Amino acid sequence: MKRMHRKHALIIGGTGMLQNVSHWLVAQNYFLSVINRNTRNFEAMKASSPAPDQLYSIRVDYHNYRALEAGVKKAFSIHGAPELIISWIHSSAPYALPTIIRERANDSLPWKLFHVQGSSSYFVKERLTVPENCTYRRVYLGFIVENEQSRWLTHDEISEGVMKAIRTDASETIVGTLQPWNKRP
Ligand SMILES: NC(=O)c1ccc[n+]([C@@H]2O[C@H](COP(=O)([O-])OP(=O)(O)OC[C@H]3O[C@@H](n4cnc5c(N)ncnc54)[C@H](OP(=O)(O)O)[C@@H]3O)[C@@H](O)[C@H]2O)c1
Repeated sequence: MKRMHRKHALIIGGTGMLQNVSHWLVAQNYFLSVINRNTRNFEAMKASSPAPDQLYSIRVDYHNYRALEAGVKKAFSIHGAPELIISWIHSSAPYALPTIIRERANDSLPWKLFHVQGSSSYFVKERLTVPENCTYRRVYLGFIVENEQSRWLTHDEISEGVMKAIRTDASETIVGTLQPWNKRP
């Protein structure tokens, strides 16, 4: 029987605040590789997934760049190079995303990167080099101002904002607001 082609996506942060994005992607028929450290969190996410057999765990600490490179290399060789990468990586691991991009550069097919970043990255733009076949999209996580008060975004709001960015394919998305900056929580 001919194997059905399934789109491949890679997500970092997909067991945490981007969990709803993980569920949405598999519902869109993506095969999803998920970088994570904590097996229990991954299994919990898998248990609530609409299609658990479409999930693949890359268990690695992304601060360990060699292990990260080996993990994504293996995933890409089994499932193909992903056409979509959603990255939520803490600034403590500045070489994690470049490591993943370098590994993805071994394939010349077009792909998209949704780079999710904290609010302060909006004012000090991170330098990131992407290959020509990559369409680069930024998503900034802001805050919410309501009733004269401000608060950070909830997981649902963050995931909803990232899904909207993917759906609309906007080059830059701000989830919530970044203005006025002095009103941030
Ligand atoms: N502007 C805003 O409103 C804003 C912005 C940023 C964050 N936040 C809030 O801050 C809270 C904490 O942020 P968080 O980043 O800890 O959220 P998180 O998304 O809940 O957790 C981090 C995610 O990244 C993975 N991860 C973290 N470190 C990793 C590592 N070294 N190697 C591999 N995978 C790793 C985690 O997997 P494992 O569990 O397997 O490690 C998990 O999937 C969130 O709950 C969010 O609500 C708010």
